[in-house]
Amino acid sequence: MKHIGFLFLILFSFSIHAETYSFPKDFQWCVATAGHQIEGDNINSDWWEWEKLPGKIKKGDRSGKAAFHTERMVEDVALMKDLGVKTYRFSIEWARIEPKQGEFDQAAIDYYRNEIKLLKKNGIQPFVTMHHFVSPQWFTEMGGFKRDDSPEIFLNYVKKLDAEFGKDVEYWVTFNEPMVFLIGGFGQGVMPPGISDWNLFDPMVNILKAHAKAYHYFHAQAAKEKRKVSLGLAHHMRPLYGSNALIQRLVGFPNYLLNWNIPTALKTGELHGMKMHGKSIFRWYWPTKVQMDELKNTQDFLGVNYYTREYISVRPWPPFLIRDPMPGLRGTELLNWGLDPEGFYEVFEHAHLLFPELPFIITENGLTDRDDKDRAEYVASHLLQVHKTINTIKHPVIGYCYWSMMDNFEWIEGFDPRFGLYAVDYTKNGERKARPSVDVVRKIYKSNTLEYPLPNQDPNWNKVKKAP
Ligand code: FCB
Repeated sequence: MKHIGFLFLILFSFSIHAETYSFPKDFQWCVATAGHQIEGDNINSDWWEWEKLPGKIKKGDRSGKAAFHTERMVEDVALMKDLGVKTYRFSIEWARIEPKQGEFDQAAIDYYRNEIKLLKKNGIQPFVTMHHFVSPQWFTEMGGFKRDDSPEIFLNYVKKLDAEFGKDVEYWVTFNEPMVFLIGGFGQGVMPPGISDWNLFDPMVNILKAHAKAYHYFHAQAAKEKRKVSLGLAHHMRPLYGSNALIQRLVGFPNYLLNWNIPTALKTGELHGMKMHGKSIFRWYWPTKVQMDELKNTQDFLGVNYYTREYISVRPWPPFLIRDPMPGLRGTELLNWGLDPEGFYEVFEHAHLLFPELPFIITENGLTDRDDKDRAEYVASHLLQVHKTINTIKHPVIGYCYWSMMDNFEWIEGFDPRFGLYAVDYTKNGERKARPSVDVVRKIYKSNTLEYPLPNQDPNWNKVKKAP
């Protein structure tokens, strides 16, 4: 008996023995942020105005000084360096650069120029988002992306970005999560511009035209000046599952519209959607599609923002449609997003079929976890799926950006969600404190390898705990 116990012990220790997973030599270890969420005082933006309206943001939070990044930029870059970060994804705020239409603010340009310089001096590659949910207030007031000339207006800003930063920045995201922006801003009306008629198609067309203009302009300039440039979009990828066969069929169309419609349009030029007809209560929606040749092949990489999958069920009483984590999985604190690394791989598998020619960059992946209970396992288990994608389906994934470097202003959720590797004390001018998972992330980033599972990792770390 004694011997059998010993044998089990040996077998058990073998079964939890960590494997070493190496990443490609130039893999871009990255952290991500967005200007409005971290910088503070984005006073000419539509979000700044939006936050003043009662009831729009949880607890009445206002972005204010946000995560005090403007004041703490030098410290933040030093923290990134210490973490082993090779690329930093952040956004330039259009409202700062162009506070009035056609007038560019030199101080704002200098601020970003300094940041880019500082990053490069520290060996960190800047990866810039041009539009991360936020527009200048003047643009939103005049109708924003509902306007037919909005792509031209956006191009004016884009030209300035190229002129000022084109030589120093190779990697760009034009728009962050257009579907989230469209649903929040033009469907639910919970973000600026606060429209809730679900007429998403027209602004979607304009946003994609703006993207195409930026893409062609940047490439033309880079070719002229013989430099490299790479542009893409950060797509929010959230596969939907139905709780039974009928619901599974019904979610097929929203699944396509949410996840694959825009990336496909950037390859083929063909965009689908629902067009609104009629007005007020007499409006109705009908499927439509448009061919936009200028959109064809306008992404150099597929930017993937992945947080979770959703399990959709229907009940005969409000709120009728229920969105849960996949069965058996725990959700994160506050937002209840399922801790679901397998969904990540599912996204890659499908994306590989659709876009075999495009490298993938994980433009965002992370969780809200104030006490840092799950963050290390979350990052490690998601990176395992990235590794599997590179090595099993042999698809190039060239970078991984953890969302987020530090706690920040989480849009309509205010300051409560804590996505940061670094905790921010908002009562102490944004003092930073490394959460324990920073050590795990640093080890991965600096060694270019993942040891999996982590020491003492519970194999059921993300499962719903069964009652004893
Ligand atoms: C993404 C957004 C990012 C942040 C994370 C949690 O949808 O791009 O700004 O809010 O979610």
